[in-house]
Amino acid sequence: MGFVVAIANHKGGVGKTTSAINLGTLLALTGRKTLILDLDLQGNATSGLGVRKEDKPGLAGLLLDNASLADVACPCYCDDLFVLPLGRRSSAIEEEIRSQPLLMEKLETIFDQIAAAWDYVLLDCPPAFGILPNAALRQANYTCIPVQCEFFSIEGLTAMLKRLQELQTSGSRTPRTGVVLTMYTSSDEHSSQVMAEVQRHFSPLLHKAVIPRDPVLSQSTALGIPAVIQAPESRGVRAYLELAWEILNHEKQEAR
Ligand SMILES: Nc1ncnc2c1ncn2[C@@H]1O[C@H](COP(=O)(O)OP(=O)(O)O)[C@@H](O)[C@H]1O
Ligand SMILES: [Mg+2]
Repeated sequence: MGFVVAIANHKGGVGKTTSAINLGTLLALTGRKTLILDLDLQGNATSGLGVRKEDKPGLAGLLLDNASLADVACPCYCDDLFVLPLGRRSSAIEEEIRSQPLLMEKLETIFDQIAAAWDYVLLDCPPAFGILPNAALRQANYTCIPVQCEFFSIEGLTAMLKRLQELQTSGSRTPRTGVVLTMYTSSDEHSSQVMAEVQRHFSPLLHKAVIPRDPVLSQSTALGIPAVIQAPESRGVRAYLELAWEILNHEKQEAR
């Protein structure tokens, strides 16, 4: 079975999608067959990987129309990288699951099939909890929480960790959790204060990699080209490389 990493934080704009795109591309470049599962209705991971989301059957096609996995996963940029958008009928997914509870079992089977078909699956979670992200989070071997270096982040992190604990008690796996600081600006005193607070309260969970604020990361996403490919030497990409190694190490520890 592949290693499933959820990238989650119920706060929006903290760097979840940017992390999913760049980590996913780096993992694929190491020869690991990698799928980014875009669980956000906005589909930013899909468009950030240069794939048009409007006309794709996606996860909704698998769940509601019996499409096949091989047909719905979209290849992008390098041999081992794929993205699976929510798909054309995405807005119907949660409603259909609510009215047909058996679809939940089908969804879990689909997640298992996905984990079996890829070496790495990155879940780009939406900035809200709901049936679909909760079900996906329960499948994760590891949850990575990007935390933006700004004032209200710590409150949000505490709430997020509590929520994950609740999900885990009702779920089948107990995934490990890591926190990664994003959009760090060394010249900004406030950024450093937030970093110090997170280190003080959450140090066992904190990744060593710190993602700097780097305009290259946002420019590439807007162009639909992963920064890893467009600007491999950039500070942002180097930080994501460090994060990718840390996540690979977590996988090794889990395999022991
Ligand atoms: N390290 C970074 N440096 C500069 N801009 C960033 C960085 N990470 C994310 N961004 C930008 O911040 C915005 C929110 O990031 P995004 O990854 O979409 O967050 P989320 O998925 O949590 O909503 C986007 O415009 C993105 O390009
Ligand atoms: Mg996002």
